[in-house]
Amino acid sequence: MLDTIIKGGTVVTAADTYKADVGIKDGRITIIAADLTDAAEVIDATGLLVMPGGIDSHVHIAQPSGDGITMADDFESATRSAAFGGHTTLLPFCLQTRGQSLRDAVSWYHGLAEGNCYTDVSFHLIITDPTPQALNQDLPALVADGYTSVKVFMTYEGMKLTDKEILQTLAAAKSSGALAMVHAENDDAISYLRDVAADRGETAPKYHATTRPIPAEREATHRAIALAEIIDVPIMIVHVSNGDAIDEIKAGRARGSKVFSETCPQYLVLTADDLDTDGFDGARFVCSPPPRDTASQVACWAGIEQGVFDVYSSDHCPFRYDDSEGKKHPDGLKSFKWVPNGIPGVETSLPILFSEGVSKGRIDLQRFVALSSTNHAKMYGLYPKKGTIAVGSDADITLWDPTRQETLRQEILHHGADYTPYEGIEVTGWPVRTILRGKTLVADGTLMQDKGVGAYQGRALSGQRLEG
Ligand code: URP
Ligand code: ZN
Ligand code: ZN
Repeated sequence: MLDTIIKGGTVVTAADTYKADVGIKDGRITIIAADLTDAAEVIDATGLLVMPGGIDSHVHIAQPSGDGITMADDFESATRSAAFGGHTTLLPFCLQTRGQSLRDAVSWYHGLAEGNCYTDVSFHLIITDPTPQALNQDLPALVADGYTSVKVFMTYEGMKLTDKEILQTLAAAKSSGALAMVHAENDDAISYLRDVAADRGETAPKYHATTRPIPAEREATHRAIALAEIIDVPIMIVHVSNGDAIDEIKAGRARGSKVFSETCPQYLVLTADDLDTDGFDGARFVCSPPPRDTASQVACWAGIEQGVFDVYSSDHCPFRYDDSEGKKHPDGLKSFKWVPNGIPGVETSLPILFSEGVSKGRIDLQRFVALSSTNHAKMYGLYPKKGTIAVGSDADITLWDPTRQETLRQEILHHGADYTPYEGIEVTGWPVRTILRGKTLVADGTLMQDKGVGAYQGRALSGQRLEG
């Protein structure tokens, strides 16, 4: 006898769409067939899409963000919000602060996550202090233990690495098998433009966008790919925001480099105009790279449609707006330079991609599943346990009502932030039930489990090349 049957729905994977029932036993999918019977629980999925649970491989949770600044989500609220948004697995970052060992960073995040999660979680490492100990001793040991990806920053004071340090980190990633993720913006260019803005008395949030222009991202993307070519190692360019950066990725691939890429909802539905408001309101949209212009949106959609992007993530990095520890930190009120970078989005990202992508006819269901689940699992070493609907896989499943219409509003969301940058966006298509390893996390807008149901997932090495 099965524990659960999901009955009468349309199963969607990155490869297929077909009518079938899905049988679950002990948290795993054990049978996919027509007309299954005999289970303790039968979930009626008539008229619904039965998709792999969403995987968001780019989220920041409880990350130290500077003196007097606190991220709006802890593991409880972030994973709860993610579950309401159709996700079953998150990959947050473990930030190594300078002087800290990678092991200590990992232990600290485990302490925050343990017993508090609704979704499963796994960790990337952020390397800010690439000492020989970190790169040659700790990293290989951590990769062997299932922390198989690292992020490096080319910008942000206190986090950015020099080109030489990036080369050293990429070399360590190559020898340990870790996948390197790169935040590509030219920090000197940004610093210069900020000085110019300061001389002109330009302090409003809109200057966050003008001082981080597209060429700064294009140049750094080019350089990151060149550095990876020198080491001959794959890289993932995260949060790509515009067509120039996409062209650099395509050019790298044309040279034979293994360059993977990610984009995010803010580059599909927001623009720099959102930062250009009276007063301080634009701070709600301050993130890096900043949202660009409509031509960049078009380019990012083309990248989604044509398979340039391997994964779509939220870059959820939430700060409260009306809060002196958030966007309205006293220094942030003085200048955009000090407004905490990042916006909430883990709950709204999949409805935005579904609605703007699938419902508007830009992408098919297969591409939606690949971008929102399967490719994350393959890229980051969770496949086929996660990321698909197949016999033997974890029963991480999201039921979508493709016709349901909602308006994205702060009042319907479950994150710790006090606003959504996507306020007022109307979507068609909504996750109506989220199932983690066979247990319903969220059904019809109601949380069904206690925190702690989500578990840590160690990962294998990246599965590398992906299908569209
Ligand atoms: O503004 C952003 N994206 N903040 C999060 C940190 C990062 O760069 O990914
Ligand atoms: Zn970044
Ligand atoms: Zn990020």
